[in-house]
Amino acid sequence: MIRTIAVLTSGGDAPGMNAAIRSVVRTALHKGLKVYGVQDGYLGLFKGEIRELKRGSVSEKLGQGGTFLGTARLDEFADIEVQKVALRNLKIYGIDALVAIGGDGTYRGALALSKHGFPVMTIPGTIDNDIGGTDYTIGFDTALNTIIEAADKLRDTSNSHRRCSIIEVMGRNCGDIAVWTSIACGAEVCITQQTGFDLDEVLANIREAAKHKRHAIVVVADNYVDIEELAQTITKKTPFEARATVLGHVQRGGRPTVRDRVLASEMGVKAVEALLAGETNHCVASVNNKIVTMPIEDALKKSEHADALNKYEIFKILW
Ligand code: F6P
Repeated sequence: MIRTIAVLTSGGDAPGMNAAIRSVVRTALHKGLKVYGVQDGYLGLFKGEIRELKRGSVSEKLGQGGTFLGTARLDEFADIEVQKVALRNLKIYGIDALVAIGGDGTYRGALALSKHGFPVMTIPGTIDNDIGGTDYTIGFDTALNTIIEAADKLRDTSNSHRRCSIIEVMGRNCGDIAVWTSIACGAEVCITQQTGFDLDEVLANIREAAKHKRHAIVVVADNYVDIEELAQTITKKTPFEARATVLGHVQRGGRPTVRDRVLASEMGVKAVEALLAGETNHCVASVNNKIVTMPIEDALKKSEHADALNKYEIFKILW
């Protein structure tokens, strides 16, 4: 019988996490549950930094970027003794189930707690869109919109100077952000772990662009190639002088888009309803426009890279 739940956000923050927390809290209150918020993810669970959340605690949070509960990356949570301290703290507060919002590290943390018999439910919150089993993660859409605004600005200046802009975007090991960005900004080249890097092809595409326009855009996923070195090579071997820009953490900030707010709201409702229906060790996912749940272990096993590869085919036709 679940009477009290807790919610936390963990890993890299993502726009829309606040909307998800709000949705979990409001749904739980609507169902007559008591709700606690855990500060700074699994770190707060370990330290016992837990406070009750009321209706007003989540007022005015829907459109705010970041996560008002704070977040952290805690590798030590893989340690069983650290997990036991967290479980003790959950018991002290009389918490019956946990909703954890975050990426795959968050999923693994929740799974570890569930292996001790504690009911958990996870919600995919990361800009990377790298969670298997869900078509979208909360924050992906907002990050893309932020990136496109920056890419459009870089296009203006590179067009004025006859330059090539190399833009490094986030995504960790997942190429989704890079491929979606490449399609949306009409890039000449897209380089990701999934789609590979062929210098001859990169140079050929840029030389081709130089025949009919004043600029070219190369999108590179997170640390996959050395973009300063690539800029020097492009400058030497193509008609364009190249400049490299790392967009960095600006991609994680900002007010969530409508799409992320709605996705987060739907997922929060589903998480609480599924827990109350007796589902545990599950995650919420968006599959073919429907909000569903599936075992966390299944989601972690699924490939998160299919979308990047499919979309790359579109990119190759259109560049
Ligand atoms: O997982 C989100 C993410 O922003 C990745 O895209 C990026 O590789 C990583 O986090 C950066 O991590 P940190 O904020 O710890 O530097």
